[in-house]
Formats: sequence, C-alpha cells, structure tokens
Amino acid sequence: MNLPTYVKILDVGPRDGLQNEKANVATEHKARLVAMLQDAGLREIEVTSFVSPKWVPQMGDNVAVMAAIARQPGVRYSVLVPNLKGLDSALASRPDEILVFTAASEAFTQKNINCSIAESLERFAPVIEGAHAAGVKVRAALSCALGCPYEGDITADQVEAVVRPLRELGVDAIDIADTIGVGTPAKVQAAMERALKHFPTAEVSGHFHDTYGQALTNIYASMELSVNSFHASVAGLGGCPYAKGATGNVATEDVVFMLDGLGIETGIDLDRLVDAGAYISGVLGREPVSRAARALLARRAG
Ligand code: HMG
Ligand code: MG
Repeated sequence: MNLPTYVKILDVGPRDGLQNEKANVATEHKARLVAMLQDAGLREIEVTSFVSPKWVPQMGDNVAVMAAIARQPGVRYSVLVPNLKGLDSALASRPDEILVFTAASEAFTQKNINCSIAESLERFAPVIEGAHAAGVKVRAALSCALGCPYEGDITADQVEAVVRPLRELGVDAIDIADTIGVGTPAKVQAAMERALKHFPTAEVSGHFHDTYGQALTNIYASMELSVNSFHASVAGLGGCPYAKGATGNVATEDVVFMLDGLGIETGIDLDRLVDAGAYISGVLGREPVSRAARALLARRAG
C-alpha cells in the first residue's frame, strides 16, 4: 500500500469550528487561535466567512479578524465567500484563497445558501473570475457529498454532477465534504474517485465531520487513493448551523496523532496543537472534543 509520505492539513477551526457557537467569541480570541495554530505548524488556516451576518452572526467580525491576525510567511489564509458582495469585502482583507460552497443535494443548498445548485453555480462564475483577476486561488466545497440531512443518500453520480461544472467554471481545488459525517470508507473512495477524474490529486481534499466517528477511517481510505490533503478542526470544534445534529470536523489533534503513528509528515507539533485546542476550549468553557487532546492533557496533568 502506497500511502502518501506527506499530508497537508488545513485547520478549519476558526471558521467551521466557531461558526456554530451561539455566544459571541471575541475577535481577539479568534486571532489568538490563528496565531497558536500557525505556531503549531499549520500552514493552511480557514480564518472566517464573508457570508451574511444575518445568517451566521458569529462570522460578522470577518474584517476585524482578518485585520487582527499576525500573518506569517508561508501560511495560507482562506475565507468563505458565497457571492459577489462577499467577494468585494473578502478581497479587501487579502486572503490567499477563497472558498465558494455548494452541495450535492438540492435541499441542503436551499437551506444553506438559499438557492438551487444551478443558481449557486451561476452565482460563482463572476466570483471565481473576480478572485482570479485579483490573483487569489479558488477552492470549492461540495457539501453533503456522502449524505444529506434532508434527502438522505447521495450517490457518486450526484457528486460528479456538481464536481464537473465546478471544474469547468475554473475552480482550482475541490473539497469533498461530509457535512453530517455519515460517510464510510468505500462510499468515500467512490466519491473521491469522481473528484479525482476532474481535479489533480493535489487539489482534492477530504473535509470530514466526525458525527458518526468515521472521519479518521475515511481519511485513511482517501490516502489509499493518494489523496493527501485534509481538513480538520482543532479540539474538534464545530457543527453546521444548517445541518441539525452535525458535530464538528474531525479533531486536528486526532489526525496528527494518527499520521505521526504512521510516520507520515505533517509539519505539525502535536504538543503545541494541543495547547491551541486547550486555549480555545477554555474560551468556550468546555473540554476539547479531541480524544487525543484529552488523553495528552490528562497525561500532562498526571
Ligand atoms: P439571501 O438572503 O438569499 O441573500 O442569502 P440576499 O442577497 O437576498 O441578501 C440578504 C441580506 O444579506 C441583504 O442585506 C444583503 O445585503 C446581505 P439587507 O438588504 O437585508 O440588509 N448579504 C450579505 N452581507 C454580507 N456579506 C455577504 C452578503 N450577501 C448578502 N456576502 C446568502 C444568501 C448566500 C448571503 C446567505 O444564504 C448566506 O450568507 N449563507 C451562508 C450560510 C453559511 O455560512 N453556512 C455555513 C458555511 S458552509 C459550511 O459550513 C459547509 C462547509 O464546512 C463544508 C461542509 O462541511 O459541508 C464549507
Ligand atoms: Mg464543514
């Protein structure tokens, strides 16, 4: 089995992790979290969203967060952009990459961005063009690629039906997103294979929420196909405001622990990552969801 020797981890904690928090998290805590993640060796961080603050109030301080982060050379900062209005303010904040987002399910697309899949693609065309004109890379997230909270099963054909036009629109990279964490390894590989038909391997990422405890297995299954780019959320923070009951992304600490054990390079210092997770969990007043972080913190305390 030829697993990758290096895996790139994008920490989505500051965005996907915090977007669902009901109580306002102060901008300074968000910026401090980004600082701690980059100090731990993360080279890709999803910082915030330029979505409507009426839809996701927690991300309403997007401009302030982007201004507050202490940028480090070699670290890439990405932000979510749903439409042209979002693009205008996002570009003023100088992200390295923007993320447009749609879904393999019609019902979820309606709930999440208030339009059909076809309308979302139409909306993205000028956003992609505008970002590229500004020299900014464009990633697309395909939510509900393994299942939908409203429609249930999603097939690989449905995945490819949206992956293909996204590539034709000029999107540079694609995230296969398991929004509600229902994917299992064979199904994940089938979805990944469809993405790999249209995008280079280096531009395909797995974005797995861990609701059913399948995310680490699904990362392993993706690595068997040579996929070596994954998203994770420090401390396992998160959930989606438009997918009831969905929990956070797989915890970054758990992913790094597994990859360290496999001898796969990530460039991430697990101890410092645990510090970042403990910090933000303290701000939120709870224990990290990450099993590895809890075990390592218990060992430190003992
Ligand atoms: P809409 O209501 O259809 O849009 O929402 P609209 O154009 O009619 O605008 C409504 C109001 O929002 C207007 O303000 C606009 O100006 C304003 P008003 O005139 O009422 O005062 N507005 C904006 N304000 C700031 N920034 C903007 C913006 N756009 C409009 N960009 C819209 C459509 C797409 C805006 C809305 O549905 C939205 O913001 N949705 C985002 C939902 C979201 O953030 N979901 C979570 C992120 S996706 C995710 O987590 C999944 C992912 O992790 C992968 C996975 O796990 O599946 C990526
Ligand atoms: Mg997500």
